[in-house]
Amino acid sequence: MREADEGMVLPLGPKDASRREFMSQVGLGACALTIAGAALTVLDFMEPKVLFEPPTEFKAGHIQDFPEGTVKFDEEHRAYIIGGQGGVFALSAVCTHLGCITRYHADEGVIACPCHGSRFDADGNVVHGPAPRPLPWIEVKADAEGNLTVDTSVVIPHGKVLKV
Ligand code: FES
Repeated sequence: MREADEGMVLPLGPKDASRREFMSQVGLGACALTIAGAALTVLDFMEPKVLFEPPTEFKAGHIQDFPEGTVKFDEEHRAYIIGGQGGVFALSAVCTHLGCITRYHADEGVIACPCHGSRFDADGNVVHGPAPRPLPWIEVKADAEGNLTVDTSVVIPHGKVLKV
């Protein structure tokens, strides 16, 4: 019912009913959107926020692939596998200054950091700063057939070469 100008009460017309239905639909739509948004937020909150990194242990080839002077860079695992005097060893490729990834320059025989200019020799020793420490030596193991496995999470003493 609605009131006319002179105080008379008039029955609701079809126009009023459709406006009421429209407003009701808008209200229901707003409620549905709010509930859906809240549900999505809760689902997103419940999803585990885990940073998946590649495994630290990886196959690095055969021991015969690393005669003295060989330097192989494994970009995925950020490591160098190096054929040294009498054996094989591996270095972390992560610069000890601020963590940039270094690159081996075969023409100069040095490992250089592109960020602030640190340079390391092929044994990981600092030859030019600002890197404060040598590149860490990381574990290399060989199975009975001579297949190498490197583990970037295991730091070993500097100079511990896997004998060929
Ligand atoms: S991060 Fe390598 S020199 Fe700064």
